[in-house]
Amino acid sequence: MTVTKLMNTYPRHAVTFVRGQGSRLWDADGKEYLDFLGGLAVTSLGHAHPDVASAIAQQASTLLHVSNLFGTEVGPAVADTIDALAGGGGRVFFCNSGAEANECAIKLARKHGGRGRHVVVSAYGSFHGRTLATLHATGQPQKHEAFQPLPEGFRHVAWDDLDALDAAIDPSVAAVLLEPVQGEGGVNPATAAYFQGVRRLCDERGILFMVDEVQTGLGRTGEWFGFLHFGVQPDVVTIAKALGNGMPIGACWAREEVATAFEPGDHATTYGGQPLATSAARAVLDVMQREDVCTRATTQGAGLRTALSHVPGVAGVRGLGLLLAAELERPVAKEAAADALDAGLVVNAVTASALRLAPSLLVTDDEIDEAVTILGKVVAHR
Ligand SMILES: Cc1ncc(COP(=O)(O)O)c(C=O)c1O
Repeated sequence: MTVTKLMNTYPRHAVTFVRGQGSRLWDADGKEYLDFLGGLAVTSLGHAHPDVASAIAQQASTLLHVSNLFGTEVGPAVADTIDALAGGGGRVFFCNSGAEANECAIKLARKHGGRGRHVVVSAYGSFHGRTLATLHATGQPQKHEAFQPLPEGFRHVAWDDLDALDAAIDPSVAAVLLEPVQGEGGVNPATAAYFQGVRRLCDERGILFMVDEVQTGLGRTGEWFGFLHFGVQPDVVTIAKALGNGMPIGACWAREEVATAFEPGDHATTYGGQPLATSAARAVLDVMQREDVCTRATTQGAGLRTALSHVPGVAGVRGLGLLLAAELERPVAKEAAADALDAGLVVNAVTASALRLAPSLLVTDDEIDEAVTILGKVVAHR
């Protein structure tokens, strides 16, 4: 593949990966790496998990796609599992990415709210996707500039500020959309007080509380969903990333009364819920439940957090479960991530001074030791 024919949307690639296995990756020269980024919190079961690989292979030679004009067998079963994990009593719409899951949530909020009640309030520092609507929901004004005018109907408030949210809710507001941990914004966890306050405000004002679990969902934080840390039940939950372990799939769950605002013809996507993607998701969810990934993310996350906090040059560690950021004493995260890659460890600079770690939820103690040893050397030289 010639890189020059790709649009210039990503920085020049330092490495070309050709193979993966568990927490390991290999580049085109045969060099081995330890993957502590998981393709941006996607490969929660590691690379080439045998159950997921064989489910995909088997489905590929059985039935890939027939469109949503017809019934298929796997999607409804996966929807049952997602519904049970998200709290029960809801329905699921399948799509192909996190941005699309949030698009579905935004449209659902508008349909449920009715005419005149369409605004979605989100937080500064958030990330909800790159389509025009989800870009506007993303609370990072510098990302909006080049693409104005963006679709109307979005409002941003300070993160973790209930008074600001209270003031932003007028009769035009249909929903609040928040991440339990702002992932792209720097791995900033919400608090139980904030999420419970948001739930209360939404109930008082009769609007929806929608939680974007695209990065945090399915065990990553040590619970099936990030909101479970905070003792609230959202009205709408969006997921993607880990659901396919690399197979592109997203989903929007909504409680029944909200979900039924959609009628046939209101929303659709050609590939949504097709047998190939949902077979991967079925295998992923089976393995996740069998391997008790929530407990693993909690224990391995605690081990990784403690080990990182002892690394000289690391000022602090934040996050939940296995979605962590190591805050460096100096703003050298980009350079440290590049050095780590040279040294055989994949992480990324989520801010100027913080490295993000989102390894496989099946990561071992030895892999954690190895990663922290590499990071220790890298950070010491910066
Ligand atoms: C919280 C959150 N929402 C939405 C998205 C967008 O997902 P996608 O890139 O699959 O469209 C991301 C991607 O990083 C995300 O972290």
